[in-house]
Amino acid sequence: MAKTAPKPRVLIVDDEVAVLELLRERLRLEGFVCAAARSGDEAVQLIDRHRFDAVISDLRMPGLSGMALLERVVKQLPHCAFLMVTGESDVRIGIQAMQEGAADYLVKPFQLDAVVHSVRRALEKKRLEAELERYRARLEEMVEERTRQLQQALQEIEDTYASTLEALAAALDLRDSDTAGHSIRVTEYSLEIAKAMGCSEEELKQIGRGAALHDIGKIGIPDGILLKKDKLTPQERAVMETHARVGYELVSRIAFLAPAAEIVLTHQERYDGTGYPQGLRGEEIPLGARIFAVVDTLDAMTSDRPYRRAVPFHVAREEIARQAGKQFDPEVVRVFLSLPEQVWDKVRKRAARAADARGRTAIVA
Ligand SMILES: [Fe+2]
Repeated sequence: MAKTAPKPRVLIVDDEVAVLELLRERLRLEGFVCAAARSGDEAVQLIDRHRFDAVISDLRMPGLSGMALLERVVKQLPHCAFLMVTGESDVRIGIQAMQEGAADYLVKPFQLDAVVHSVRRALEKKRLEAELERYRARLEEMVEERTRQLQQALQEIEDTYASTLEALAAALDLRDSDTAGHSIRVTEYSLEIAKAMGCSEEELKQIGRGAALHDIGKIGIPDGILLKKDKLTPQERAVMETHARVGYELVSRIAFLAPAAEIVLTHQERYDGTGYPQGLRGEEIPLGARIFAVVDTLDAMTSDRPYRRAVPFHVAREEIARQAGKQFDPEVVRVFLSLPEQVWDKVRKRAARAADARGRTAIVA
């Protein structure tokens, strides 16, 4: 059986007993549950103890006035409708009462039909207001819920991006086991310099990805050249140099990596225009690639190679300083020289741990 709505509860406040009784009787017949108070103060006591949907109050009463009661109801019971009863000479105050939150005003002597109609209309208005309030709250909840879902989806996309990067980097590691630690070190250190140069979060993201994938094109270089321990012949060198463009072709097809692909393409360019594949010079070379060039040299010089031992950091530092304006962007060199050696030490340690973890994952896989 359908649940019937509870009867509306109305409080009638008037110091004239005859008016009280008349209203109470009529409203009861119309299906309202009525309570009566003979003063504003009595009304306050009832309001504190019981729930009411509407209050019909006389304006002029001994003690607490109708206006004071209105103020209290508006503050204390925002969902309760208030109807002010005024004498003919108090119409202006009736209008003022509406401005202060009353749903309507009734002028004495009143038609009972008009009172009933006014009460019903006021209750309907409050019902609609409450519904609107519930709808607004529900809408806010929905917006919050959707925002949460969207953030989760974005996080999942970020995670997918990270796994894609990892997979690409791991693919190169399989070909050339020396590259794992190198890629991580140059990525981390490029980010240190880029941060010190004031790059935005988005630029940092692209620089990090570009540095991590800079040599990805080496996947396409034959083993005989890629893994050759001796010096490369000019023909072999030409094949080796295709790795920048091959890497670009590969990476630029992946939408989220497209901006980083620029760094892959230009990571072998030199500030003075003597690099490859395009011979770009100065600021024609993207900032990420100009930063990378310094870091790549630093890492190459401070790492052991089959044909030579690593040099100490300060020696690499001096060589890089000498190449400012030639191989390297002087501004990038200036920022690099301003970073303490400890930053580089920390990066090396972090990279060693990360490469180790990656190696273990590869073995397990
Ligand atoms: Fe390279």
